[in-house]
Amino acid sequence: MQLQLSTWPEVEAYLAASRSVILPIGSTEQHGPNGMIGTDALTAAAIANAVGEATGALVAPPIAVGMAQHHMAFAGSMTLRPSTLVAVVRDCVVSLARHGFERFFFVNGHGGNVATVTAAFSEIYAEASLGAPGNRAGLKCVLRNWWESAPVKALSKELFGNAEGSHATPSEVSVTWFLHPDAQKPMALDPPVAPHGSFADAADYRRNFPDGRIGSNPGLASAEAGRRIYNAAVEALAADYRAFAA
Ligand code: NI
Repeated sequence: MQLQLSTWPEVEAYLAASRSVILPIGSTEQHGPNGMIGTDALTAAAIANAVGEATGALVAPPIAVGMAQHHMAFAGSMTLRPSTLVAVVRDCVVSLARHGFERFFFVNGHGGNVATVTAAFSEIYAEASLGAPGNRAGLKCVLRNWWESAPVKALSKELFGNAEGSHATPSEVSVTWFLHPDAQKPMALDPPVAPHGSFADAADYRRNFPDGRIGSNPGLASAEAGRRIYNAAVEALAADYRAFAA
């Protein structure tokens, strides 16, 4: 059940039966030479909506721009400052809490969001702990990275081995090609597997990872692999959501 496709009486009826909601969060950033800029937001939204269909959960609209400052030396990337993203996550949660929602299950598509979204959860809890007026106690938030459940990690390893890497991965590119077959861009990459390493700001990132990838070979991506990974992610997260909402 998607919030954007629902009416307010439907949401009111949903709240009579459940206080839990799913919130997809992604990013809009470069994903190497053949990956879509929307990869992290597209995958998070699609997987979250499928988890909603499997569990009957309400799914909020995606937060499509995340914390991606390190990608800003590549055309098309967008970022929120960490402090802005903390405020966005907080305001989204508090908006829904105003209507009675108590449990917030974030489906995340971007590793760079994790530290900031976790900080946002701490801000939300701190406001309740410090007794700020208007803030409700008892809210509970979790963040789940769709690529990190055990079955998905095992499948990525089976399909791509050490070419999975950590950014512009063949797994995430495959899922976008499954979701949007008309936007596939198959190509051989040079070098096949990108370098590993660390980064600080955007210029440093581009110096270390000239075509945008980290440790990955998304030249191995396919829509068929994407279908398998997507199904594994939805199944794992649906079980996780049911336990969280119970
Ligand atoms: Ni990504």
